[in-house]
Amino acid sequence: MTDQNLAVIVLAAGQGTRMKSSRPKVLHSIAGRTLVGHVLSTARDLAPARVIAVVRHEREVVVSTISELMPDIVFVDQDEIPGTGRAVEIGISALPDGFDGDVVVVSGDVPLLDAPTLASLIAEHRAAHASATLLSAILDDATGYGRIVRDGAGVLDRIVEQKDATAAELAITEINSGTYVFSAAALREQLPLVGTGNAQGEKYLTDVVGLLRAAGSTVSALPVRDGWMVAGVNDRVQLAEASRRMNELIVRRWQLEGVTITDPATTWIDSDVVLAEDVEILPGTQLKGATLVQRGATVGPDTTLVDCEIGENATVKRTDATLAVIGAGASVGPFAYLRPGTYLGADGKIGTFVETKNSTIGVGSKVPHLSYIGDTTVGEQSNVGAGTITANYDGVTKSATVVGSHVRTGSHNVFVAPVTIGDGAYTGAGTVVRKDVPAGALAINVAPQRNMEGWVAANRAGTAAAKAAEDAQ
Ligand code: UD1
Ligand code: CA
Repeated sequence: MTDQNLAVIVLAAGQGTRMKSSRPKVLHSIAGRTLVGHVLSTARDLAPARVIAVVRHEREVVVSTISELMPDIVFVDQDEIPGTGRAVEIGISALPDGFDGDVVVVSGDVPLLDAPTLASLIAEHRAAHASATLLSAILDDATGYGRIVRDGAGVLDRIVEQKDATAAELAITEINSGTYVFSAAALREQLPLVGTGNAQGEKYLTDVVGLLRAAGSTVSALPVRDGWMVAGVNDRVQLAEASRRMNELIVRRWQLEGVTITDPATTWIDSDVVLAEDVEILPGTQLKGATLVQRGATVGPDTTLVDCEIGENATVKRTDATLAVIGAGASVGPFAYLRPGTYLGADGKIGTFVETKNSTIGVGSKVPHLSYIGDTTVGEQSNVGAGTITANYDGVTKSATVVGSHVRTGSHNVFVAPVTIGDGAYTGAGTVVRKDVPAGALAINVAPQRNMEGWVAANRAGTAAAKAAEDAQ
């Protein structure tokens, strides 16, 4: 149910200089989702009356990415005055009319924070009738963060930024996470009073805390138990750290849901992947995008699946697959390459060193060895011989190959598309199938073999081959 007294402001206007990237920082991804995408998903779980995103740097791409994820979000543009304080000051202009509730402020670059932690921050804020309540963390290495300055009684006094801190303040290990709950009234009152007289010449949101305290309002900082949860991503090192941490959480969640994951350290699972009970994931496996793996299936080792669907009890080993659907009980790999539009029926097989693309291989049908199958439909219970290639491209157009049901094709065939091989047909080894094969026919077009007796003795006299031939006679 929507909390009519809650709004969320997501800060996403900054440039992210330390990423050294042409891509805006908040659009870098971990676990298959942008940083800001993780933040938006957490914001949505709070069911606020409104979510507002403050944008500026690379506005167009940031806006289009965010609005795809959350169509009803409201965008506001930060002006040339820099700083998180200015961002929020502009952000509150988009609060619902007459809104007098609480405003959660989160950064687009803090992806690991979860909704339960934010919900308890809001609950504490409301219970204390506070003007501002923020999440802090005690870190071994506080470098780069704003520090929480408490008074002699341990009460939050103000926040000092790294660049403005004295040596004594830099020694403080409690940091500001950049995640806050404010009463809307407090922000409206205090933000206009914040100046830019600091080391960075910016309007700091953190200054609101000191101003509120000086005005006698209730402000508090609540240390989060797990410091990693509020880690900000400012450079590529932190991006990789956040990525690993997020992956650990995802792996653990699926393990507790009944998935066997042999080696969490080398298994990477995106946020949107879905796994059923008794799935087994072997080392070196990456499950990406909207991949779905059904009960009892085994995936890996060394397998990458992007947007794939794997059926019950199927096996996918040492495979790279994108947009492929694998039927129940089917087997894929080792060393298979499945390109988009591959459909493998139940109990079917795509075997070793086989590449497929835009092809349907029916129930119980097999392409076991060394093949390229493109733009092809194979019926049920057929076997495509080892080393078969569909010649689907004549340099201008791509054409289709149709193989019927219960077909047996010989090894090392070429199917020159467009071509159809009828139900129950056979082809001989080495056939180049240029014409349709009727149902039940055997197609052969290899020239008859000629053996020229004594050719080696006559033409290769004195070689090891000639000696071996002589010995054999
Ligand atoms: C900020 C806090 C710091 C805290 C840290 C936690 C301030 C002044 N400092 O520092 O106390 O420890 O976060 O991660 O708030 N942004 C805007 N507009 C701007 C500037 C930034 O929207 O003008 C956005 C950024 O896109 C980012 C967020 O605000 O999502 C934080 O900005 P960033 O520059 O990363 O702040 P920090 O220096 O990390
Ligand atoms: Ca930051």
